[in-house]
Amino acid sequence: MSFVFKPSITKSTQILASIPGDKSISHRAIIIASLANNTTIFKGFLFSEDCLNTLRIFQHLGVSISIDSEKQEVTVHGVGMHGLTPSKEALDVGNSGTGIRLITGILAAQSFRSVITGDSSIQKRPMKRIVDPLKHMGAIIDGNESSDIYPPLTISPTKTLKPITYTMPIASAQVKSCLLFAALFSKEPTTIIQPDFCRDHTEIMLKAFQAKLTTNAHAITIEQSELTNPFSKPITIPSDFSSAAFFIVLGLIHPNITLTLKNIGINPTRSKLIDVLQAMGGTISLTNKTMEIEPYADITVSSSKLKNITVDDALIPIIIDEIPILAVAGMFASGTMKISQAKELRFKESDRISQIVTLVNAFNGTIKEYDDGFELTGGFEADSPVIETAFDHRIAMSAVIASLAANVSITLDTPDSIKTSFPNFFDIISSL
Ligand code: S3P
Repeated sequence: MSFVFKPSITKSTQILASIPGDKSISHRAIIIASLANNTTIFKGFLFSEDCLNTLRIFQHLGVSISIDSEKQEVTVHGVGMHGLTPSKEALDVGNSGTGIRLITGILAAQSFRSVITGDSSIQKRPMKRIVDPLKHMGAIIDGNESSDIYPPLTISPTKTLKPITYTMPIASAQVKSCLLFAALFSKEPTTIIQPDFCRDHTEIMLKAFQAKLTTNAHAITIEQSELTNPFSKPITIPSDFSSAAFFIVLGLIHPNITLTLKNIGINPTRSKLIDVLQAMGGTISLTNKTMEIEPYADITVSSSKLKNITVDDALIPIIIDEIPILAVAGMFASGTMKISQAKELRFKESDRISQIVTLVNAFNGTIKEYDDGFELTGGFEADSPVIETAFDHRIAMSAVIASLAANVSITLDTPDSIKTSFPNFFDIISSL
């Protein structure tokens, strides 16, 4: 059933304190704390469909995990590196590419058989990128083979995994994390080399849990390790920069607004959209910088005259999830935005290059599609656009932000995908 969104913003200065927890860190929190030999409490966990699926998977694998809804805390009673037990049923990641790729790294090293799968979009996501290197390590994995390898994946029991030195053909934090998790179970050190930097939450949390992991420029080396949570207090998961990005862009493109977003994760491998938007002329400032396991800060943005730029190719892997909302910023800016070397966008929750083009065209904007990116010229003349989202949360939220800033009503084919990453998105919109 379609959903009609009629925008209106009545308050011009706002403090947004409820951007939810970081999705990438929440997945890693469950995975790493499950393998630890003691208990961990997390606050700020993202209670979205994707992360709850990861939580349920580890419950199916024998880990006791409880949720305190009042305190918004998750307690994970780790079972140690060899304490997981087989699940009676297939493990279901729902819509989460991060879930399936990271968890497969752990399952590949177990002495029991598992089947892992997800929704219809997951069954179209390429898994060869993890299956091939895992097979080199000695893992036994079968999937649906055609032009790539697709879920469901069946992972047969393995006695030991061999170490590898692996240069990733693309900078992917999901591939890197999958292999680092598998390598934790190998008797000798494994080295992963990333062609460009990509998000490093796995390395940060593994080190915090005392894994033997070292990084040297583009190379990460990991050895078999016992994991322990050394903290007596709950661990804070900061608010998700990628979710905040929708409101950062709204603050810049709306004609009359100032927004302050509280406690947003500013890990440099995640927050480079700030640099891109500042280079476009955006007024953005960071205050109250705090460092726990990960850094976070308050981000204030206000209405700005933006100018489009050519985005540096080296930044693409670290702003990859923000490109749909960056395209919306581009629609409200003068000049032309160029994005290239971004073919990975075609393999996300949807083919995001194609969906960005569909979105801009629905607003009667100007965009040229390329195999690895697009060229978008600012300006559009929207007339109650109907948006096809391909069940992609970031496309749906980008469309809502464009509609709010342009003050035009839109029809979305479905808003349901938004729950996979940002369950209170519309609550925040209504608070405006
Ligand atoms: C993620 C890594 C990125 C990103 C995804 C989350 C992660 O994918 O697009 O939303 O948590 O590791 P790739 O690393 O495959 O580019």
